[in-house]
Amino acid sequence: MKLLKLPHLLYLANLASATSIKYQQPIHDPALQSSSSPLLALHKSLVEIESITGHEHDVAQYLISYLSSQNLTVETQDVGPGLDGRGTRQNILAYIGKQRKTKLLVSSHIDTVPPFWEYARQGDEIWGRGSVDAKGSVATQITAFEELREKGKIGEGDVGLLFVVGEETGGEGKSQLANDLGLKWDTVIFGEPTELKLASGHKGIGGFVITAKGKAGHSGYPELGKNAISMIVPALNELLNTQLPWSEKYGNTTLNFGTIEGGVAANVIAEEARAAVSMRIASGEPAAVEKVILDAIQKAGEELDVKFLASYGPVHIDSDVPGFETIVVNYGTDIPNLKGDNKRYLYGPGTILMAHSDHEHLKVSDLETAVKGYKALIEHALK
Ligand SMILES: *[C@@H]1O[C@H](CO)[C@@H](O)[C@H](O)[C@H]1NC(C)=O
Ligand SMILES: *[C@@H]1O[C@H](CO)[C@@H](O)[C@H](O)[C@H]1NC(C)=O
Repeated sequence: MKLLKLPHLLYLANLASATSIKYQQPIHDPALQSSSSPLLALHKSLVEIESITGHEHDVAQYLISYLSSQNLTVETQDVGPGLDGRGTRQNILAYIGKQRKTKLLVSSHIDTVPPFWEYARQGDEIWGRGSVDAKGSVATQITAFEELREKGKIGEGDVGLLFVVGEETGGEGKSQLANDLGLKWDTVIFGEPTELKLASGHKGIGGFVITAKGKAGHSGYPELGKNAISMIVPALNELLNTQLPWSEKYGNTTLNFGTIEGGVAANVIAEEARAAVSMRIASGEPAAVEKVILDAIQKAGEELDVKFLASYGPVHIDSDVPGFETIVVNYGTDIPNLKGDNKRYLYGPGTILMAHSDHEHLKVSDLETAVKGYKALIEHALK
């Protein structure tokens, strides 16, 4: 899942570089022998490799080797230098044989939020950064793919696997990659933690920054200056008491006052102040929500500058597959970034309430159930 940020321009620029096909040698991984199943071994290997956004080089190398060793064609796309000095960050596309254009795309992301937490097995629980978001999805997607292939249920031209970097801080990679490849799919299955349910939609996201420009002065003589913080506070208070658009399906549009900054010292009239707010949009187009917000801020009667960030409204997701419970989620995904009229599903093991936390973990049985879930979704999509 994604934090709200302005488009990452450097990232976009780097994605424009050409794709290249590289064939890799099989890897030797002792974990594959020692752990109780190939699924758990793969999940363990992925979680053990730190891959905070910007540090995806090593985990990508591991996956490239792993997928190549499964006799898949693996293409990589350079996304620019890593932030950890370990080499280029890469998106990965894998498929059977020579046919990169597939009916179905199965996709997730290989970066995690900070900080890194070690892999740990405690009874039937698996802990560690990324164990849920989203290496639980990556490992189970690959395993589902392999099991269907072994049974002869999928072949060349059916399914592509796409694993991207940089989802946690922007996610523009996915749409850009699809554009670069010139590919379209009938269906795309996205992997994020959905508690093994099929997401029927998620809230939209947006945000804004309020800036106040005042006049500095001695705090003993407030009438000689204008306090920028005192200008912003009534606007925020107004927003706290404003009913924003809502819907039955997605609930309330919510605001998070993420940061407030301003002033230089307690005894100086603050000349500048700034508040950054993120929105989770539950109804309609962002423009309608933005109008309600502007009206509320104007009601506070201060001269403030308001800049809205890139945004999108609630995202409907297909959930018409028999046998799955459905769920609505409040986080953003790569889904709106991937343009096209394809069907789209969102599914994965673990809960978002654990993701990004210091106690991120899931159950072994969640992983096993997710493999079954992905297999059912893949077979449904190819029917
Ligand atoms: C590898 O995959 C190709 C393409 O599907 C297939 O022709 C070949 O037989 C496979 N090789 C092995 C060793 O499975
Ligand atoms: C939405 O906000 C109203 C108050 O404005 C509250 O009563 C209601 O419980 C909220 N709904 C949800 C789903 O959180």
